[in-house]
Amino acid sequence: MSASFNRRNFIKTSALTGAAVTLTNSIKAFAPAKKDKVRMGIIGAGFRSHEHMGNFLQREDVEIIAIADPQQRSVDEAMEVFKKYNRPQPVIYRNGNEDYKNLLKRDDVDAVIICSPWEWHSIQAIDAMKAGKIPGVEVCGAIKLQECWDVVNTSEKTGIPLMMMENVCYRRDVMAVLNMTRQGMFGELIHGQGGYEHDLRGVFFNDGVTAYDSGVEFGKMHTAKHNGVPSITGTGTENFIPHMVLGPWR
Ligand SMILES: NC(=O)c1ccc[n+]([C@@H]2O[C@H](COP(=O)([O-])OP(=O)(O)OC[C@H]3O[C@@H](n4cnc5c(N)ncnc54)[C@H](O)[C@@H]3O)[C@@H](O)[C@H]2O)c1
Repeated sequence: MSASFNRRNFIKTSALTGAAVTLTNSIKAFAPAKKDKVRMGIIGAGFRSHEHMGNFLQREDVEIIAIADPQQRSVDEAMEVFKKYNRPQPVIYRNGNEDYKNLLKRDDVDAVIICSPWEWHSIQAIDAMKAGKIPGVEVCGAIKLQECWDVVNTSEKTGIPLMMMENVCYRRDVMAVLNMTRQGMFGELIHGQGGYEHDLRGVFFNDGVTAYDSGVEFGKMHTAKHNGVPSITGTGTENFIPHMVLGPWR
């Protein structure tokens, strides 16, 4: 075994120990009382959130207390999900982009799922942690590097954990590669790149109403019109979803 490998292992072990101490401290700081129910808020009630709502509303130990979304159509569609599962309607905050802050002021919300467009993720996640709510973020969570640090620093300062909810990151094969990387099987990693590396034109380009497979159109009619689906510059040429598979590596 080479000296450099040992050194790398040592650095890795030290870093992991450091991380463990930090994590333990965070967890100690964050010690929620055990409750019979988890009381949720949803920020951004569009397409993605409906799946979460459907899952939550089928559980007796989860209640959705409130929803914040400025768009009437999204709120109406969300209400259909509540009707489907015959559960009480939540309190709605739909008075503009900042009304989610009023949801965060509620004492009866433990955690929030953030399903708004990307540019809102770090802002809303940071506000949630500052308000003492645990955020789950659908996803990328941040656009600029500094936003990532702002999210990490807020989590450490408040002691509130945040979950990056990119489901693909937690797939068995992706976790296996993460594990292999941590064991040093690929040597030192100097570059990482993620993205949707397969044909998803039916998702990326839509008619502005239906999320999936509603036609491939370019220019003004592409994803930006279905506002949560990722397109930051609106050119349609960027690497969509770079966090795909790379999430837990950060
Ligand atoms: N993990 C996955 O498999 C998966 C799948 C689809 C989408 N997503 C992610 O989910 C997020 C939402 O995507 P979507 O498809 O539901 O888009 P969508 O356009 O259907 O929903 C986004 C909603 O956010 C609302 N919104 C905009 N600004 C807001 C604000 N300031 N406060 C509160 N709400 C606001 C919009 O009105 C809209 O209803 C995106 O970040 C996307 O990347 C993840």
